[in-house]
Amino acid sequence: MLVPSAPVRGPRRSSGLDSLVSNMTNAPIPNNGRGNWGSRFAFVLAAAGSAIGLGNIWRFPVSVSEGGGGAFLLIYLFCVAVVALPVMLAEMVVGRAGEKNPVGAMRHLKPKSPWFLFGALGVLTGVIILSFYSVIAGWTIYYVIEAARGTFQPDTDTEALFENMAASGGIELLFHAVFMILTIVVVAAGVRKGIERTVKILMPLFFVLLVVLMLRALTLPGAAEGIAFYLKPDFSQITGGIWVMAIGQAFFSLSLGMGAMITYGSYLNKQENLPVSAACVAGADTLIAILAGLIIFPAIFFAGMTPGGGGPALVFITLPQIFAQMPWAPYGGMLFGVAFFVLLGVAALTSAISLLEVVVAHMVDDWKWNRRKSAWILGGVIYVIGIPSALSLGAVPALSGFLGIMDGIANYTLVIGGLGLALFVGWGWGLGHALAEIREGTPGFRLAKVWSVLIRYVAPAAITVILGNQIFQLVRKMIAGF
Ligand code: PFF
Repeated sequence: MLVPSAPVRGPRRSSGLDSLVSNMTNAPIPNNGRGNWGSRFAFVLAAAGSAIGLGNIWRFPVSVSEGGGGAFLLIYLFCVAVVALPVMLAEMVVGRAGEKNPVGAMRHLKPKSPWFLFGALGVLTGVIILSFYSVIAGWTIYYVIEAARGTFQPDTDTEALFENMAASGGIELLFHAVFMILTIVVVAAGVRKGIERTVKILMPLFFVLLVVLMLRALTLPGAAEGIAFYLKPDFSQITGGIWVMAIGQAFFSLSLGMGAMITYGSYLNKQENLPVSAACVAGADTLIAILAGLIIFPAIFFAGMTPGGGGPALVFITLPQIFAQMPWAPYGGMLFGVAFFVLLGVAALTSAISLLEVVVAHMVDDWKWNRRKSAWILGGVIYVIGIPSALSLGAVPALSGFLGIMDGIANYTLVIGGLGLALFVGWGWGLGHALAEIREGTPGFRLAKVWSVLIRYVAPAAITVILGNQIFQLVRKMIAGF
């Protein structure tokens, strides 16, 4: 059984995150403290680092593509504003008040109640997501090497390039391992001096590069068709399944529903303005996703592909098409290719860190494991769980589709986790406590009423209707099949 935490807020315990935080902020951390972010910027940076990742560049265009284009985009934006953003604030509040990982925080705030099971589902979801996330992030490392070798030329068959990589079990397992080790090393040791400075430079650089790629993509032949598909809503395409995809994508992209923001929020100080932080993180993440669409969809039409296909490979097939069209061939393509995949890899790493951090923080906080040991053991176990995903894209035909299935499971568990959290804050722990916690750093929280209604009624109702409808359809299909 888990050890219940003390219901009263005690002194923060020391953890490896202390070094992470102090190195990121250069702020002294009290020895007996569990650790605080030293500034809002450090926290927003870490939270945005968690949110911005493969979800924006790889998963978002795949979802839009499978979801029929513009109509999906509108539903996605609705889900972000009405459901995900209020849940993000709620996660940060629970984290800062509970001062622990999702399981520990919920036990701390509502002892002797089963609410912590939603936290446990979150930890499990972290394991599932990281298992396949690391496989895809591994592809970015492989693509850096290919770009540097000058592979992306106008006549390169980028589909064959991807398929050759995917069909090689050795390559898949190797790069999955390399990425997982990088993630483990950072989580085990804390982020060493200089990382914050590096990320501070790399993230804006990533943004600039995306804008440059967008300009190139928008001037490719066929771009207009791509943009029309992406931005012109076709409401006849909307189904219950698309709503589920959109809300799942919103949770995935904003790192919600599994306690990443609870865990990062647990290292926050009381002066922090949580509503502004949540809005900054959600805004930056959404901007990057929209930008990614403006690059990918013109590229799909330029390459003569049809949206809706491609699956997990989509981005890795279309993007090299743009690199091949860069001026000063082959050097332009090499330069942009290497820069892009390095930055995408870094964005994936800052997300993967937060995925592993949730699982590790649970073992450190609630099971009293040592941080280093937790990171290596859990990282190793998650690597093994990821092996079928790594081999599912061609290496072992019997495993075909496994990565997609894991991703699909996460889509549901994230949303269920988000529902649990909204109910916990709105009803279980209580809005009064949550608002008091927000007001510690934001005394004049003007949107208190709006947020209360959203988190208490609107978000749970929206999630229930979306999930309920999907389950109803599934049951109906099953009955019809008999
Ligand atoms: N938000 C990350 C991305 O968009 O790539 C993925 C992710 C990280 C999901 C952390 C969930 C999470 F807790």
